[in-house]
Amino acid sequence: MAAFKELVFSGVQPTGNLHLGNYLGAIRRFVEMQARDAQCLYCVVDLHAITVWQDPDALRGQIREVTAAFLAAGIDPKRSIVFNQSQVPQHAELAWIFNCVARLGWLNRMTQFKEKAGKDRENASIGLYDYPVLMAADILAYRATHVPVGEDQKQHLELTRDIAQKFNTDFAAAIAAQGHEGGFFPITEPLIGGPAARVMSLRDGTKKMSKSDPSDNSRINLTDDADAIAQKIRRAKTDPEPLPSELPGLKERPEADNLVGIYAALAGRSREDVLREFGGAQFSTFKPALADLAVSSLAPIAAEMRRLSADPGHIEAVLADGAERAEAIAQETLDAVKDIVGFVRRRRA
Ligand code: TRP
Repeated sequence: MAAFKELVFSGVQPTGNLHLGNYLGAIRRFVEMQARDAQCLYCVVDLHAITVWQDPDALRGQIREVTAAFLAAGIDPKRSIVFNQSQVPQHAELAWIFNCVARLGWLNRMTQFKEKAGKDRENASIGLYDYPVLMAADILAYRATHVPVGEDQKQHLELTRDIAQKFNTDFAAAIAAQGHEGGFFPITEPLIGGPAARVMSLRDGTKKMSKSDPSDNSRINLTDDADAIAQKIRRAKTDPEPLPSELPGLKERPEADNLVGIYAALAGRSREDVLREFGGAQFSTFKPALADLAVSSLAPIAAEMRRLSADPGHIEAVLADGAERAEAIAQETLDAVKDIVGFVRRRRA
């Protein structure tokens, strides 16, 4: 196996209502990754967003909003590369080549497509079906070795690995002839986990926190101010029992489990540790503590997002700079891929 330089890539869809689940499951982990000695690329995946129809004006706003959330949460656009997917055409270009590597049978197994397409599959866009192939192109355009994602993206990451593997095998001779030892694409590692890999709805601990839940009280939006955050936690569904002092006591108590998980994630502690402190306490004690913690961690992000959103010119300059740096890496990959598959590349003057 070739030694690939560690490179981190991840993406967030600009489809509106960024919430605590996006923050704890993705964005905050992106910030943590910056401490590693690796290049990090964080992409606003607008090409993925349009696999279901988006209102154009709303989409523009959402792309800027996700960018603002990245910056407000602490992603440093000098150190990391922050950009939106549609500004770097190599993603779509590599996706086409991967369309010719991936197999129908592989895509037919994707559970997210089945869920999103629902019963009316004939009427789903081809883009929605092809979504995981574009995702593989996002990652492999940079030959990324590590991808922090939520639990729900695990299957898509496996598809990325399958595509990399098959490309490496199908073109093994050409890859060796081009001097790439041990395969051209890395077999990317998903980074899944943390105490809040899954943040659940505040109204129903068995459902994921979701941007599309009709009840705004079910989620904490990243744009919520201190009052809204505190109020949603006060109103969160619970059961009548006090908190247990050990983990097994959270079984069959999805709402309690979720709130303890959120507390642990925000405090950077384990659930066990949180239960050691709050075991035996009533929710009337725990909820105010959670509300204080949530407000102190999240309200400053919302405030910084509002500040950044007042200056779209700055956001767009960050995206333009990111796109330029991303494109330089992706173009190198595409040039090599074209040589490997046997295209005759345009000679540059
Ligand atoms: N599918 C991911 C999600 O919905 C977003 C995404 C697109 C992504 N391309 C990616 C995540 C590449 C990681 C790497 O969460």
